[in-house]
Amino acid sequence: MSPVHYLGRFITHVKRITIAIDGYSSCGKSTLAKQLAHHLHYTYIDSGAMYRAVALYAMENGLIQNDMLDKANLLRVLPNIHIAFKHDDATQRSATMLDGRNVEHRIREMDVSNNVTLVSPVREVRAKLVQLQQEMGQGGGVVMDGRDIGTVVFPNAEVKFFMMAEPEVRAQRRYLELKGRGAEVSLEEVLANVLRRDLDDTTRAADPLIEAPDAFVIDNSHLTSAEQFDLALGHVVKAIGVVAEA
Ligand code: DC
Repeated sequence: MSPVHYLGRFITHVKRITIAIDGYSSCGKSTLAKQLAHHLHYTYIDSGAMYRAVALYAMENGLIQNDMLDKANLLRVLPNIHIAFKHDDATQRSATMLDGRNVEHRIREMDVSNNVTLVSPVREVRAKLVQLQQEMGQGGGVVMDGRDIGTVVFPNAEVKFFMMAEPEVRAQRRYLELKGRGAEVSLEEVLANVLRRDLDDTTRAADPLIEAPDAFVIDNSHLTSAEQFDLALGHVVKAIGVVAEA
């Protein structure tokens, strides 16, 4: 165990901070978030899963048809949509629950990925999910990833990362992941989805994806997952050290 890894474990007991990870789609945010959460014994929260769950709800209830969202009816039912995370004994992982149903796998499929940017710009959807995320993150000891975590959800997070990678590298990674799960997709389709979500995420009026001024920027186009983890953990250890001495 390297000194940074050792220190990382030791100071977990000192102060439980909030770690915000934002960045472009398919950048490996969740991989890094899970690694940090596991190492520090923190809770990992996937905020994107919550937007995906709302999109799935809209799709299943006839509120998305021909790439169009029936916003008025979504707003009417929004207070009744129940989203939570629950430990799944079978996979030993956290699963996204939509109205009590495990939708963890379903929300990762391409049709949901393609429809999620219809619901994510809706201010009322964001307000509901941001509030839920803030409640889940109360008390610290949390790693949350998304697009607006360091800017809107937890602007006072002790450590913020902003992740990026070249679109072709991200598409290739996502393609292999989807293929590995048996999905019928082409690399072109995945790249188009990545580029479309980049554009939608950065140009929407409500809480667009922007770099927090105090975020550590990580471009992982040419980094291994282990190199990236070491880099990030170094920043976390430094931050907890400073807080612990204060
Ligand atoms: O991280 P992801 O690809 O699973 O996110 C799914 C979508 O949800 C993505 O297109 C952007 C949106 N999203 C968002 O608007 N705000 C967040 N905090 C997280 C995700």
